[in-house]
Amino acid sequence: MPTLVLSILTFMLLKLAIRLKVTGNPAFANESISIMNVWSSTLHQLSGNADRFLLAGIHGYQLDNAAEIMRTYSRWTPEDFAILFTITF
Ligand SMILES: *[C@@H]1O[C@H](CO)[C@@H](O)[C@H](O)[C@H]1NC(C)=O
Repeated sequence: MPTLVLSILTFMLLKLAIRLKVTGNPAFANESISIMNVWSSTLHQLSGNADRFLLAGIHGYQLDNAAEIMRTYSRWTPEDFAILFTITF
C-alpha cells in the first residue's frame, strides 16, 4: 500500500471511530469496520521510500486508537481485531 493512502485511511479510520462515539450513528461504524476488515485481508506490505517506516509509526498510533474505540462496538468482533493486529502488523 502506498504511504499516502495509508496516511489518509488511518486518519479517516480515527475520524470515523470518534464520530461514532460522538454521534452514536452506526453508519460510521459500518464504514470503519469495512475498511479495517478489508485491510486485514489485503494489507501485508507498505510500499514507497524509506519514509514508509516513519509513516508506519506516525499513523500506527491512529490505527491503534481507532481500533481501541471500535473494540467497544459489538459488530467488530475480537476475532476481527486479532486478525488486524496479529496478521497484518
Ligand atoms: C450497518 O451494518 C449492518 C449490518 O450489515 C446493517 O444491518 C445496518 O443497517 C447498517 N447500518 C447503517 C446505518 O448503515
